Amino acid sequence: MSVQREQWGSRIGFVLAAAGGAIGLGNIWKFPYVAGQNGGAAFILIYLAASLLIAFPILIGEIFIGRKGQRNPVGSFRIVGQNRSIWTSFGYLGVLTGFIILSYYNVVAGWSLGYIIEALRGVFSGFEDPLMAGFHYELLMANPKWIIGWQAIFAAISVTVVYAGVQNGIEKYSKILMPLFLMILLFLVVWGIILDSEGKGLAFLFKPDWSVVKGKTILEALGQAFFSLSLGMGAMLTYGSYLKSDDNILSSALMVAILDVLIAILAGIAIFTAVFAMGLSPDSGPGLVFKVLPAVFAKLPGGTLFGVLFFLLLTIAAVTSAISLLEVISSYFVDEKNYTRHKVVVIVGIITFFLGIPSALSFGYWKNVTFFGLNFFGMLDYVSANIMLPLGGLAIAILLGWQLKKNDVITELRKGAENIVDASPWSLLSSKVYLSQRFNNGLIWHWIIRYVAPVVILLVFLYSLGLI
Ligand code: TRP
Repeated sequence: MSVQREQWGSRIGFVLAAAGGAIGLGNIWKFPYVAGQNGGAAFILIYLAASLLIAFPILIGEIFIGRKGQRNPVGSFRIVGQNRSIWTSFGYLGVLTGFIILSYYNVVAGWSLGYIIEALRGVFSGFEDPLMAGFHYELLMANPKWIIGWQAIFAAISVTVVYAGVQNGIEKYSKILMPLFLMILLFLVVWGIILDSEGKGLAFLFKPDWSVVKGKTILEALGQAFFSLSLGMGAMLTYGSYLKSDDNILSSALMVAILDVLIAILAGIAIFTAVFAMGLSPDSGPGLVFKVLPAVFAKLPGGTLFGVLFFLLLTIAAVTSAISLLEVISSYFVDEKNYTRHKVVVIVGIITFFLGIPSALSFGYWKNVTFFGLNFFGMLDYVSANIMLPLGGLAIAILLGWQLKKNDVITELRKGAENIVDASPWSLLSSKVYLSQRFNNGLIWHWIIRYVAPVVILLVFLYSLGLI
């Protein structure tokens, strides 16, 4: 175990990789549809509060455990949790959660991949009525060959990337592709705002109607904050395990969180302005983005090209997220079970593909097979994102807040606070003065992680169960 562990080349390497893993379908596909189902603005405000108050501090905690443990989630939880099996079991829970999330993530990422081809074929330009985009989506969903085929191809792509170890190459491309994605998104935001001349979309996004908030709304907002930041199953922990000991966790985490939330909000604006401008319904569920954006591209000059580019970039964003999931699961089997890496990656890839098939079918053939009112896909998503991830977060908070000594935790957290030199536009936010004076003494963070985060997560659980 004395082998020197690989480390990020630079702090920006960590930020890019972690942001690349965090930004994905969760921001562009899931956030708008869950917000739409939960009534819009009130949900979004709760999501923002959950991100700031709970998810961000836990993100710091998760990276912390990875850097301290220098291992995969199981190994790091074991070391940082001083060998107590209760902590180690949360590492296992993470690996299990990873399997589940990856299984259905592949399905939706497959849609995005398939939509590149739909766009290339010029299908979108034939949508004279916005509703036609929705019919086209339904048509594809009724075709299991289409869904499972693209799911398989997407899964094969992410397996190949992890197998060949070209993630570093992806990091390089991310520097170009992420800003490009951001630009397209910004364009769609502006276009959407122009379309939404009556401002109904913006009102839906920013004028909260608190009467729609139920226990489930709060739980889903918390789950979305976790899912979007890739939190609570060990992905960020694994990235943290490659972080240098003199890099400052807090400032790195801040950049990742800001980018992630920003992209989700932009996607929300782009989608809901278009939804209302075209008279579509905001609560149409997992198909929302695929029903709305093609209708937007249909009317946009150069829409075909835009459509191709958009779904291409979305697919790439999904690849960088999927590989973060695959990587965590694989690193567990490699580190702890001594399996060879190549073998593990392929086997895990195949298992998650088959595990995803019922999810794929639940949009067509198995539409009517339901559990507690959710189809198979919906159930997996609900349980993993809204229960398993926050449970993982709860474990992180209790481990750091209650099990470890406050002084040790704070000393580790403060490392690198003096090294924050940053030439990026974010330097204003992450500047030494700002951070070290405000938060970087770690006391506020420790207080949140010890009292606020665990209590709030527990309350949200109880509230959504109707127990309080
Ligand atoms: N956060 C990613 C997204 O928004 C998905 C993801 C990648 C994820 N790794 C994860 C979600 C780990 C939860 C846990 O698309």
